[in-house]
Amino acid sequence: MTDITPQEGHDQGHGSAPAKLGYSPVADIPHKPRLTDTDPKAARRAERQVATMFLLSMLLIVLFVVAYVTIDPSSTVYIPVFGDVGASNFALGLTMGGAVFLIGAGAIQWAKKLMPDVEVVQQRHDMQSPRRATAEAAANYERGKEESGFARFTLIRRTLIGALVLFPIPLVVVLRDLWTASPAEAGKSPADLLSETLWTKGSRIVSDGTYLPVKPADLPVGGLVSAVPADLQEVEEAEGNLNARTKAAIILVRMDPEEIRSQQGEGWDYQGILAYSKICTHVGCPIALYEQRTHHLLCPCHQSTFDLADSGNVVFGPAARRMPQLQIGVDEEGYLVAMNDFQEPVGPSFWERG
Ligand code: FES
Repeated sequence: MTDITPQEGHDQGHGSAPAKLGYSPVADIPHKPRLTDTDPKAARRAERQVATMFLLSMLLIVLFVVAYVTIDPSSTVYIPVFGDVGASNFALGLTMGGAVFLIGAGAIQWAKKLMPDVEVVQQRHDMQSPRRATAEAAANYERGKEESGFARFTLIRRTLIGALVLFPIPLVVVLRDLWTASPAEAGKSPADLLSETLWTKGSRIVSDGTYLPVKPADLPVGGLVSAVPADLQEVEEAEGNLNARTKAAIILVRMDPEEIRSQQGEGWDYQGILAYSKICTHVGCPIALYEQRTHHLLCPCHQSTFDLADSGNVVFGPAARRMPQLQIGVDEEGYLVAMNDFQEPVGPSFWERG
């Protein structure tokens, strides 16, 4: 608990009366009034400066939304030192960063130039909170309200409220990305978008990280390999399409063919090697925790568990949908390949709720 006693007798700016606020003198601390304490014109100038910053913050929020809607996410812009950067990200970062900065700078300017400039004594007390302290806290709150001039500076109050009201808009606008990954995919449902991946008939399966093609002999019974399509790197470099990796990531597991109880399609394995999407059907965490004895795949996020020997069905946890299986085979050189794309959407199932 602290007791704060501001210095008495200092001009509080804009006509506030220290005596009215109940200040006590603080000895031995010289006080130098600010220009805004003594010159009403300077105070009004400071008020306009603060309001201008809040107004500019509002403008930047509007520009954020305009940039989000109009700038092609794949376009780039050259920035000295950084080189080519994504134009959309650059514009969004600049406008959002500027808006936050201006709200903060306006608040600091307000506090430094217009709020009371007084010296205070802060005394330490026991850690107890007597009832009197609660009343004092309430009184301090009221006094703070009075001192800050929140009621008095109507222009600042209104522009600050305007800036804060507009500030959450970008958070709502970017929710659009839950539905549409890029302008080229506009108009497609989430289920359609999640059903189309890079896998096609004959796509080679390569190990994620090394990008080396996988042969059946590379995978012992009980083993697991994280894999992606062979052309993923090329697509990412050409299109900068980050969703491509997320949607195409798979795990390969191998088990004794006798232990496979069911699959999502007739003979979709290759000699006991099964391929499943790596992205959990609950809310999309990547999964690679595999228990080879039970053939269970465990999601670390919310513990959904899938039985890979039984069509990837859910055996535990919040996931409501099985893990999508990819039909695989081998090409003429003996490397594992996809025989088709996934036959159902991969990843989280929010779209099922209509
Ligand atoms: S994301 Fe896998 S259980 Fe929630």
